[in-house]
Amino acid sequence: MHIAIVGPGAIGCLFASLLSLKKQSNKDSLLLLDHNRERADLLNRQGIIYETDRKQRTMVPVSAEIKSLALKQVDVVLFCVKSHDLQSCLQFYLPLLSPQALLVFLQNGIGHLDIQEQLNLPTTPAFASSSEGATLLAPGHVLHAGRGRSHLGFLQSPTALQQQQLQELAQHFHRAGLEISLSQDIRSQLWAKLFINAGINPLTALYNRTNGQLLTSCAARGRLKNIVREAEAVARACGITINVDPLQATLAVCKSTAKNISSMLQDRRNRRSTEIDAINGAVAREGKRLGIATPFNDEVVEQIKKMESEYNSGTITK
Ligand code: PAF
Repeated sequence: MHIAIVGPGAIGCLFASLLSLKKQSNKDSLLLLDHNRERADLLNRQGIIYETDRKQRTMVPVSAEIKSLALKQVDVVLFCVKSHDLQSCLQFYLPLLSPQALLVFLQNGIGHLDIQEQLNLPTTPAFASSSEGATLLAPGHVLHAGRGRSHLGFLQSPTALQQQQLQELAQHFHRAGLEISLSQDIRSQLWAKLFINAGINPLTALYNRTNGQLLTSCAARGRLKNIVREAEAVARACGITINVDPLQATLAVCKSTAKNISSMLQDRRNRRSTEIDAINGAVAREGKRLGIATPFNDEVVEQIKKMESEYNSGTITK
């Protein structure tokens, strides 16, 4: 199978290294796509440095491009870019792909779930969620800080070919050592991940703490609980199936990824835009639509936006 991964961020580098390390046959290929020429050159020269928390480092050779003629042969494209970059990224890559290529979206939050309608996509996409703990230590250098689970599924009925492509992708990931399953209810899986991101990400960024350190501060822990409970109320009103208590699940992730620098804290430290709109912003918007008050989510949205504007204007340090 020919797979392309768009976006060499933490999770893109993690998946690209695992798939490359366990490349199954010469009929398989992996292409890493990056809009940044300098970084693509670096990835081609040095490969991805894949590090585990036991401090073992492996150099994984990869082939990185901005765009490539080989894209027409790709069977599956996994988009690992930030939710706010997804639209422009799709507009760039769609014309370069075969109409048969399966598009798979792996973003935090739920802001991208109507992307098919928004962009009038000619094909039914698949969605993915993952709780693998990945931290980008430097461009092309990923730390696999904690093992998690990944889920793949469709929101709309797929064709037989799309179903087969997704199954094959899951098999590749499985052989690469990931715990991955096909889900009949990916929307609920994405909400389950949203609860965790809503509780952990903005608070780690605001308090400048690791995931585990949130548990040792009464103030942070109290806010986390209120944010997640609000998100749960909104999800229930949306008819989302909830199988695991969202608050317990979020606290468990704080523990199991205690040393992890959340993606939003990584964004803060690198002065990048955060995914707040797709995470707590989405909870607040859905709450408003359904007449459910979400003051704790509203508050972090406002604070994170203020923080972003401060570091954009240079008045906040790392
Ligand atoms: O966004 C992140 O950082 C991760 O999704 C998670 C699960 C919060 C762990 O850090």
